[in-house]
Amino acid sequence: MREETIRISPEEMAAQARFARDFSRLPGRPRTYFIVTYGCQMNAHDSEKLAGMLEDMGLTAAPAREEADFVLHNTCCIRDNAERKALGNVTWLKEIKKVRPEMLIGVCGCMVQEPGMAEKLLRQYPFVDMAFGTGNIYRLPELLYRAVETRRRVVSVPEEQSTLIEGLPIRRESDFQAYVTIMYGCNNFCSYCIVPYVRGRERSRSADDILREVEGLQEKGVQEIMLLGQNVNSYGNDTPGGISFPKLLRRLGQTGIPRIRFMTSHPKDLSDELIEEFAVNPALCRHMHLPVQSGSNGILQAMNRRYTREHYLECLRSLRAAVPGIGVTTDLIVAFPGETERDFEDTLSLTREAEWDSAFTFIFSPRVGTKAAEMPGRIPPEIATERIERLIALQEEMTQKNFASLIGQKESVLVTGASRRDEKMLTGKCSRLISVNFAGNPELIGKIVPVEITAASKTTLRGTIVKGE
Ligand code: SAH
Ligand code: SF4
Ligand code: F3S
Repeated sequence: MREETIRISPEEMAAQARFARDFSRLPGRPRTYFIVTYGCQMNAHDSEKLAGMLEDMGLTAAPAREEADFVLHNTCCIRDNAERKALGNVTWLKEIKKVRPEMLIGVCGCMVQEPGMAEKLLRQYPFVDMAFGTGNIYRLPELLYRAVETRRRVVSVPEEQSTLIEGLPIRRESDFQAYVTIMYGCNNFCSYCIVPYVRGRERSRSADDILREVEGLQEKGVQEIMLLGQNVNSYGNDTPGGISFPKLLRRLGQTGIPRIRFMTSHPKDLSDELIEEFAVNPALCRHMHLPVQSGSNGILQAMNRRYTREHYLECLRSLRAAVPGIGVTTDLIVAFPGETERDFEDTLSLTREAEWDSAFTFIFSPRVGTKAAEMPGRIPPEIATERIERLIALQEEMTQKNFASLIGQKESVLVTGASRRDEKMLTGKCSRLISVNFAGNPELIGKIVPVEITAASKTTLRGTIVKGE
């Protein structure tokens, strides 16, 4: 089935702007909001858009969710525990609402887009006032207007999620780092993954729209952008005549933005053109998140990842040869249906060979509607837990080795704030996306500074500022 991309028209956006304007005249309207965000960077960025729309409607951010007039949960359903956490927190608000009945509770995001979820919310969560999906977040002004005006529950979950939306207001969390979506959705249908079902098909934003956004960010002094897409390497595949991802990176580099990152790259689509771009584009950070998922070819095939372990290692070799000092991180799933001890050992041996800076490790979680949920050979939870623990221990060893090799090197660090552990220290990220802590003046927050690495701990590096540069 092929869904056509639906570009939301300027007229539709203007209609939403009218709802936003008229909202300020509604009696009994909520004045404050709080957004609870779950899941990945896509969701974090969607929340910045939701906040932008709410502020356009005259609402202001509340300091805590129990104090807010409107609490919106932007949910994730990638694994069962993500879903349970979101539903648990929604239920928790029920008690608050007993004391503050005027409180409006909304649920949006990926979980709402799951088949049957909207009905479940209506039936089992009568205190939820509003639910909407991922493809129609732009309709928030209208939905909130209707909920307040009619005092009735509003649910809007389109089957169709393939919308391309431009021009939403964005309330960014940071003044110097910014997310920029370059494409929505996913076409890959990895057999375990629900994302293609809840985010729709791939659709790329036009290079001109992206460029305009990044130019605006550069003018405001933003130091680092993170380009977002489920598989950035297939950027432009759905727009005949458009430019490729490496060409997009070239154009974005020319805006003068100091740092560019992107996430996520799929190993099956990693191109030589992209690898070559690192050598000539100084804005590109020396980091790539390249999820492998498993080290066993049999499991990779069952996952429908469409590459082999050997191909993945070849990608790493080319990347490291062309970009000395690049750091690679990954995602790994253990206990996929049918995973034998041998398959798992293949994942361990790949972990030794690949030398990632870090890995996000997950236990397979069956998602209704995906192929893997129907596969035989479910792994008992105790074996799954034992495997993930062994994997984490090995990756920690590898991380230590990589971090230790950085001692004595100079890294440029974008300072993001005070260290959480020690308020007198600053923290930031080096080009390789590793946290670096060092002593320094808080005035440096938001700036890129040279730091010499002096020590490595389990998850961070320590250093001292290089003076006189
Ligand atoms: N588009 C990205 C991944 C997005 S989801 C990519 O392809 O790399 C982030 C990670 O969650 C995945 O890389 C995978 O490791 C994990 N994940 C996805 N579905 C899962 C499931 N059903 N069970 C366990 N982990 C899962
Ligand atoms: Fe999910 Fe695979 Fe798409 Fe990533 S590439 S979002 S893992 S289907
Ligand atoms: Fe992201 Fe979770 Fe949706 S990982 S795309 S928020 S299902």
